[in-house]
Amino acid sequence: MKVAVIGGTGVYDPTWLQGAQEQTVDTPYGATRVTVGALDGGQSVVFMNRHGLGHSVPPHQVNYRANLWALKSLGVDRVIATAAVGSLNLGMPPGSMVLVDQFLDFTKSRPVTFHDGGEGGVVHTDVTEPYCPASRDRIWQAARDQSLPLVMGGVYVTTEGPRFETPAEIRAFRILGGDLVGMTGVPEVVLARELGLCYTTIALVTNFAAGISKTALTHQEVLEVMAQHVDRLRSVMGAALKTLAEDYPCSCPPAEGPLKVLG
Ligand code: HPA
Repeated sequence: MKVAVIGGTGVYDPTWLQGAQEQTVDTPYGATRVTVGALDGGQSVVFMNRHGLGHSVPPHQVNYRANLWALKSLGVDRVIATAAVGSLNLGMPPGSMVLVDQFLDFTKSRPVTFHDGGEGGVVHTDVTEPYCPASRDRIWQAARDQSLPLVMGGVYVTTEGPRFETPAEIRAFRILGGDLVGMTGVPEVVLARELGLCYTTIALVTNFAAGISKTALTHQEVLEVMAQHVDRLRSVMGAALKTLAEDYPCSCPPAEGPLKVLG
């Protein structure tokens, strides 16, 4: 199985891949850059920087469709995304790593689908299990084998950004069952599901969300906390990539409608 990493905030560096080669991939939604390399066991890995070179693209302007399409066209089967997130849950303090299992979508202005009607028809994609359960089990086990704590399950609230949230929004999200808040989870996971990619997210909590945190939030704080914990995240990811590259059955449905032709 071919695996890919979508590196979020603070996960920019694919130097751990052997023979890493950068390449541009053209898609119907525009071009995007990836680095292709291999794990020490030889398994091929595609690395993609979600926010582009030098973290230059804000969450609401990421070309999610080009990114996911590029991975599919390179023959990727399974994707691990990383995400820096705020926490709404006192049981998931800064430094926690969480395997996301559900999302709430509060985005507003993004292209959210590959299915825009017309000749392609209307397609409603099932997202009962947005994040592959079989892959989550494997990642959790890989972390456990290294004695690295990883929380199994968390609800990721996606906001539009690029501003942080108000304390009132965070109170509302808590009432709705949110655990984590970030700006990139949707539509990435949805587009992956539409393409029949098997997708998981490892979130790293960088801060308590607005109103829970005693201080005002800054992007600098997010970057600093991420930098403190990124080695742990990389260790889990390295082990996870090896296990996800194995050929095991999972319940992720294949692409529907005209996207079926992509395999
Ligand atoms: N809110 C939204 N996105 C984030 C946060 C947050 O508190 N922390 C890291 N990414």
